[in-house]
This record gives sequence, structure tokens and C-alpha cells, in this order.
Amino acid sequence: MRQMRPSDAPQVKASLNTLSADTRRRRFFVSIAEFSDDAVHRLIDIDPAREYLLVVLRREDGIEIPIAGGRFVHEDERPDCTFSLLIGDPWQGQGIGRRILKALIREASRRGLRRMHGHVLADNRPMLDLARAQRFAILESDQGDDVLEIVRELPDRWSLRWDTFLRRLWRR
Ligand SMILES: CC(C)(COP(=O)(O)OP(=O)(O)OC[C@H]1O[C@@H](n2cnc3c(N)ncnc32)[C@H](O)[C@@H]1OP(=O)(O)O)[C@@H](O)C(=O)NCCC(=O)NCCS
Repeated sequence: MRQMRPSDAPQVKASLNTLSADTRRRRFFVSIAEFSDDAVHRLIDIDPAREYLLVVLRREDGIEIPIAGGRFVHEDERPDCTFSLLIGDPWQGQGIGRRILKALIREASRRGLRRMHGHVLADNRPMLDLARAQRFAILESDQGDDVLEIVRELPDRWSLRWDTFLRRLWRR
């Protein structure tokens, strides 16, 4: 897992175009027939000051294939950010989403942000279960009955450092 680079665009485009219709709908809320070069660049060319974008790669025959990703975006003056996750169909349900979400939470806390939000289709059981397990509250949204808002407070920088210290100690 590492931060996305603009040079990842061709591989990301190929991976996005293998996603099932259901995964596309759950991530983008609309059905997308084909991801164009422009659409891919809109997804991966970010402003690092207010966005953070991770990609998970799998090496196959010496080539790195993107299999999952996650991002958050925050506005200049507010301590809130909005996140999303996308795991390729064959890789769902194996703990990758949970690991990306934890990495996003850590980075958002490190940036001094205080709350993380997401929008989830009401029938997206895996995402709602993952959100519950990561202590998000599930609320109605202002985007209609079929979209829910998930939100959680983020640890402050000091508790984050303490958590990291304990995790390292535990691994020894
Ligand atoms: C939703 C999504 C991000 C979850 O990521 P994932 O890697 O598949 O999930 P994980 O394997 O990390 O699962 C973590 C937890 O989520 C829940 N979960 C995941 N898949 C589940 C499923 N099919 N059914 C029920 N619960 C599920 C479980 O609570 C699981 O905890 P456990 O490992 O203790 O059982 C992923 O499936 C995905 O990208 N879906 C399509 C796009 C999407 O829905 N994006 C979210 C919009 S923000």
C-alpha cells in the first residue's frame, strides 16, 4: 500500500474497467459503463494539501496491478474530511478495506482533522458493517433515503502517537 502517483493512471484505468456493475454503483452511486482517461485523471490527480489517496498493488508477473484504493478530502478551514474506499471484486472481504480505512484515519488524525464522514448506499451492507466495526455512527443523509451518512470522531495527535507506540510494542 502506498500513495497514488499520476504515473499509475494506465494501470488504474485498466483495473477500474474490470469492476463489476455493483461495485461501480456502490462506490460512485451511478452506473459507469467505461472509465475514460479523463475520468481516471479526475480520480487520481489530487491536491496533496487537501487530499490523500492510497493505492494497494499486487505484483503479477513482475507487473504491479492496482487492486484497491482509498481517499479522503478536506476543505481548507474545516476539521472534517470525507472518505471513500474501493476494493476490486476478487479482493473484497479479505480485510483490505479495513486496513485502508485505518490508514486513512491515521493520516487524517496526523493532519489534525477531527471528524471523518462518508456517504454509503443504504443497501451497501459490507461498507455499513465495516463502518460500524470502525466506530462510525450511521445517520440519515441529506442525499435522499437510499444514501446514509457515516461519521466518526478522529483520535487527536497525542492519542494517535500513543496508539502507534502501543502497537509497535505489541508487535515485538
Ligand atoms: C465495502 C468495502 C470497501 C469493504 O472492504 P473489504 O475489503 O471488502 O472489507 P473487509 O474485508 O476489510 O471487511 C472488514 C469488515 O467489514 C465487514 N464486511 C466486509 N465484507 C462483508 C460482507 N460481504 N458481508 C458482511 N460484512 C462484511 C465485516 O464487518 C468485516 O469484518 P470481519 O473481517 O471481522 O468480518 C469493499 O467491499 C468495496 O470496495 N465495495 C465496493 C465499493 C464500495 O462499496 N465502497 C464504499 C463506498 S464509500
